[in-house]
Amino acid sequence: MSLISLISAAAVSAVAQGSDTPSPKRQEAAEVKACAQMAFTGFRTIADTRAQRFQGKVTELTALCRGGTNAVKFRMTPWIDLTNYWGTGDLTSLPKGYLSTSASQFRGVSGALHDLEYQRIELIKFNLFDNNGTYQDYIAGRNGLVGAAIKTWPQLRLAQNDPNYVLVGGDGEQICKGQLIRARTLTGICNDIRNPLMGSTGMPFARNAEFETTFPDLGQTQLTKNRHGGRINLLTPDPQVISRKLFTRAQSNSEACNRGFGLPNNSPDANCDYQKAPFFNVLAAYWIQFMTHDWFSHMEEGHNAPELMEVGCTTQLVNNAAAPLSPEDIQTLGCRPSDRADKTYVLQDSPPGQFTSGGRTYLVRAPKTFANNNTAWWDASQLYGYDDVSVKRVKRDPNDSAKMMLEPVSGVGGGYLPVLSAGDPFEPQWAGQESVAFPDNWSIGLSFYHNLFAREHNSFVDEFRKQARLKPNGDSGLRNPSDPKRVIRNQDLSNDELFDAARLVVAAEIAKIHTIEWTPQLLYNEPLYKGMNANWNGLLGTGDPDDSKALAELVTHGFGHSKNATKESQWYSVFASGPGIFGMGSKSPHYDITNPNDVNGGVNHFGSPFNFPEEFVTVYRLHPLVPDLIEYRDASKDPNRIVQKVAVIETFEGKATDAMRSRGLANWGLSLGRQRLGILALHNHPQFLQNILLPRFNTPTRQIDIGALDLIRDREHGVPRFNEFRRQYGLRSLTGYDDFVDQHLAADSAVRKEQVEIVSQLREVYGTHVCDASKVITDAQVNEDGSPINDCLGHPNGSVVDNIEDVDTVVGWLAESTRPHGFAISETQFVVFVVNASRRLFSDRFFTSSFRPEFYTQLGVDWVNNNGPVGPIMEAGTPNGHRQPVSPLKRVLVRNVPELVPELQHVVNAFDPWGRDRGQYYSLEWKPRPDAGSDPAFKQ
Ligand code: HEM
Repeated sequence: MSLISLISAAAVSAVAQGSDTPSPKRQEAAEVKACAQMAFTGFRTIADTRAQRFQGKVTELTALCRGGTNAVKFRMTPWIDLTNYWGTGDLTSLPKGYLSTSASQFRGVSGALHDLEYQRIELIKFNLFDNNGTYQDYIAGRNGLVGAAIKTWPQLRLAQNDPNYVLVGGDGEQICKGQLIRARTLTGICNDIRNPLMGSTGMPFARNAEFETTFPDLGQTQLTKNRHGGRINLLTPDPQVISRKLFTRAQSNSEACNRGFGLPNNSPDANCDYQKAPFFNVLAAYWIQFMTHDWFSHMEEGHNAPELMEVGCTTQLVNNAAAPLSPEDIQTLGCRPSDRADKTYVLQDSPPGQFTSGGRTYLVRAPKTFANNNTAWWDASQLYGYDDVSVKRVKRDPNDSAKMMLEPVSGVGGGYLPVLSAGDPFEPQWAGQESVAFPDNWSIGLSFYHNLFAREHNSFVDEFRKQARLKPNGDSGLRNPSDPKRVIRNQDLSNDELFDAARLVVAAEIAKIHTIEWTPQLLYNEPLYKGMNANWNGLLGTGDPDDSKALAELVTHGFGHSKNATKESQWYSVFASGPGIFGMGSKSPHYDITNPNDVNGGVNHFGSPFNFPEEFVTVYRLHPLVPDLIEYRDASKDPNRIVQKVAVIETFEGKATDAMRSRGLANWGLSLGRQRLGILALHNHPQFLQNILLPRFNTPTRQIDIGALDLIRDREHGVPRFNEFRRQYGLRSLTGYDDFVDQHLAADSAVRKEQVEIVSQLREVYGTHVCDASKVITDAQVNEDGSPINDCLGHPNGSVVDNIEDVDTVVGWLAESTRPHGFAISETQFVVFVVNASRRLFSDRFFTSSFRPEFYTQLGVDWVNNNGPVGPIMEAGTPNGHRQPVSPLKRVLVRNVPELVPELQHVVNAFDPWGRDRGQYYSLEWKPRPDAGSDPAFKQ
């Protein structure tokens, strides 16, 4: 037994000594002792190889220190340990009878933050795979530089036929300058001024999984062959059968749901059952769709490639053997064999080259690559455009071209976006919709946000003009890099300059809302509240002394001092992020807009150019969030009354625009704000999305099942299946479907019984096989004893094991029921966000070293920092124990939809259902606030 195991065993047995249930004081003493011993043994080091990764699993001693015997008990599950630490849940996550619950809470919460930082550092170290051809340099280094320290890449230079080729330096050193660096460009070029193409429209999606593990159904390596045993391909297991058997929402009254169409005249008697999240509202569901339309798109102008393909509804497993579906089966399932979908666009599918480094052979890119047809930057391109076509739909006010065009609509307050008209570029299915850069999959939620942020854009312009009238000769802060010494006075700003500044401000506000308002509600617990605020404000910039203490401890004692380039990257990820917090020189009084190091010096790509990976798209396939019916309310009457039930599908495409203009932003805001969204679980896909009519398909049904299509797209894009996906991200893999059952639940609990039932459904759909222990299935992880993971996954050779390796990633993360408290997403999705959400800030100079008045104007910088023209304004009281500014989306709503002010008075986070009483410390209780007692939503 090693020294560490001996100490650990001693501490754990100290708890148990004397009696079966040790007294709280004895437990507390044992935990404190464990902490001291843990400090003595030292913190674990960052893994050198994939096989040594952290996996979110700590030693017994650490578990005892941070979460007591409960945390020790659940160490043997595959799920991350921080779930079980003190203070990471609601009030019940604090111990009873201890001398100090604050000390245990501190141990638990700072321990969780510690774990998260380890995960992020290792994710940055092991999960960056660029598809532009830079990967060889990343692995082998270049000109004496280690890969992680490389900052420029020839592959990201502008090509000779680019109109800006000469401007950036032609065939010499390319550096963006002048007009190209002043603001966010249409196609996203010149965000990184030394790598003009990075993140621009049309660049390939990256990967987070090793190239060799992508496209598992091609069976390109012996490991993938061993892993899947020839059992998977594009339509196997059958995606429509999976959707119908595992995704369909059960209905208590099918007639009242009417396949998601509700009842005539939006009758309030309609009802579509769905599993609801008590702490997250429908505004949050549409927010994330609104975000994805900024970040990525596989499609071009609402189309995939012209060729159509079959989409399943042909076979199922019967007693573990594939059998064709009979007409009766098809009818029972409700799937459609004659549906067809357009194939995904492929950028490159020629066999990728190989290289050798350190005795190992690597692929230079994935076997196929796909273009991100949007800018990858968080630049509000869904509002402002990302190419020459989309920008034509962005209409500016003819009377003041610094503003967006908004039209008054009689009967509803405020301005509304204009409707697409003849001469605008648009696809037939978008006819009648608002004219916006990204019009696809439009419904009432997207209409809501596009209108809201167009108003916000104009609010900024109005405020700027107001201040310019008061101080026309005042220094706006803006500078022109081509004429850097000239002070641009408030009165000097051209309309274009003001428009561009307003875009920067709106994009940064959106990023801030997402980081410190949406995400802490998505992951509703104390460590994540602290972590996300640190992500935006910088580690020591939260303003709350308690936060600084916890986080400073993490850094000073957790990671030691930086000694080399790799460590430097690791330190950066700890300290970094937050506009201007780390951005080199962004706070400097000597900042020089003509000095590339000042303008660009704060970004860090960790040696791999930034773009979203395919795996990121996978974990954003969040269609279960959407309810079938919107509980519609009237803000001018009684907000507690559900007046109608409006089917989401009745607000699809052009119908959204009618719905918005006839009912107005305030009523939709109230309705979406009060209603709970659908949880991310199996059996929770909207009925209407399984049966959606997309007239653009020239097929017999013209319908498609979006849930099934999500699976097909992932298979087309070569996303590894769930278990290998987890291993690739440094999470522990499962040994069978039974691992999906949450071990925290009592043996006889009803929820547990439901989960056991789901396990049997997974077994029916994905099947089992007789395993062969001689077949190694992965090199991303090893068993705890150091042996390779084989086809038997720890079960005896020759036994029947679950085909857990074949489970589609979306199915797997939907089946994850063991989650940290308040997590609307699963831990598998979470790690994907940890690495990519961080990089999205680290890589963007407009959130780091170019978050400066020279680009944003002084008003712009203050607006982003203060959540509006004045401030900061503090929220009343101390929600969840924190003094905090009024949240940024709440401020946007108050400013632009003033009818909502009375309702919003009670709201702390705009994504928490507005009528809910938040209770104490991260409560998830579904309970009305005092004046919402009559709201029928609380009786459901
Ligand atoms: C009314 C609501 C919605 C409708 C009608 C809708 C419809 C669609 C359709 C038709 C596709 C294209 C499938 C394809 O051909 O590949 C799609 C893709 C997608 N949807 Fe939704 N969706 C809705 C809500 C959401 C929400 C709330 C999210 C949450 C993030 C979301 C995330 C995605 C993602 C990530 C893709 C893949 C995009 C890509 O590959 O570039 N959708 N959706």
